Amino acid sequence: YQVKMDPQAISKGTYDSYMLKEIDEQPAVLRRIVQKYFSDDRIQIDSELLHELAQADRIYIVAAGTSYHAGLVGKNLLEQLAQIPVEVELASEFGYHLPQLSKHPFFIFLSQSGETADSRQALVQIKDLHYPILTLTNVPNSTLAREADYTLLLHAGPEIAVASTKAYTAQIAVQVILAQALSQEKELTPSKPLAVQQQLGLAANAMQSLVDAKEEIQALVQKYFSKQETVFFIGRGNGYAVALEAALKLKEVSYIHAEGFAAGELKHGTIALIEEQTPVVAFILEGQTAAHTRGNIREVVSRGAQAIVVSQRQFSQKGDQIIFANLDERINALAAIVPMQLLAYYAALERGNDVDQPRNLAKSVTVE
Ligand code: G6P
Repeated sequence: YQVKMDPQAISKGTYDSYMLKEIDEQPAVLRRIVQKYFSDDRIQIDSELLHELAQADRIYIVAAGTSYHAGLVGKNLLEQLAQIPVEVELASEFGYHLPQLSKHPFFIFLSQSGETADSRQALVQIKDLHYPILTLTNVPNSTLAREADYTLLLHAGPEIAVASTKAYTAQIAVQVILAQALSQEKELTPSKPLAVQQQLGLAANAMQSLVDAKEEIQALVQKYFSKQETVFFIGRGNGYAVALEAALKLKEVSYIHAEGFAAGELKHGTIALIEEQTPVVAFILEGQTAAHTRGNIREVVSRGAQAIVVSQRQFSQKGDQIIFANLDERINALAAIVPMQLLAYYAALERGNDVDQPRNLAKSVTVE
């Protein structure tokens, strides 16, 4: 098969790298997703798909790499909004260690390319078992799209840089919309309703302000990341999921050793690695655990760490802070990742790396 690409969409334009171009495109991608999935303020998703999803007693999200990290945020959204249990599985594990499945499972494959071999291997197995499958992908007619019962497109436009950026936020956005549609299909009356269309618009604005403040991130990189060989990212809830993705971004393009983990786990081992000036980026994305994460920041700062807090609230705290506009906390992963993508980009640039084609990595891994 052939994939037709619009030459405009695959040109770097005035950019030196695809990665920066794709980071900058995120507000526009988010707005495009809203346009594609809403009509007259109503969500447009195949009713058969929603009907089948609503019958499921458990959703399994299967993915790899950055898509797996987007799935972790998707799990939280689907569980909160649609009140359905969700497991997120690594494709490479799932294919060979099939978990004990529920009675009426529904499978969602998340894949930017729709070609990842590990995901494909898992999909083939699930197809043999005749369970319903939805693929969420950026590439129409990709293998995973063709082999699934249903497809939802990310509408992110071609993603060329190996490190995934706009596809990650697009995957989160489409999962928010799907979770909301499923909640409506199940006729749930949420105690805290989410104004999805409005919130995604606000998230696009927040992203725009963040990509417009590039110099601040570049300054942070020059201040703390030029000599450091280890960086930690911590958070709770969606902040934990974003921490994993932020660490992956930094590793992929800057080759700095980075680890993302749940803030509460710090004391169970990793804190031993904190030294004078070790950068620790903390995501405070939810009210209920903010005080705990701030406690973790104090613990590392008192051991010499350099703290950088990413949040929508201002805290009086030692260290630097990246603040973004007020969003419903269920979707603020969309904004929180943007400065981290920029951080990875500038750290890579600083080290003279090829940001679009990092060593040893491929955009689409078609071997198991
Ligand atoms: C490769 C890419 C990653 C990507 C992963 C999954 O490792 O370098 O950026 O997250 O594959 O790809 P997919 O296309 O399935 O989302």
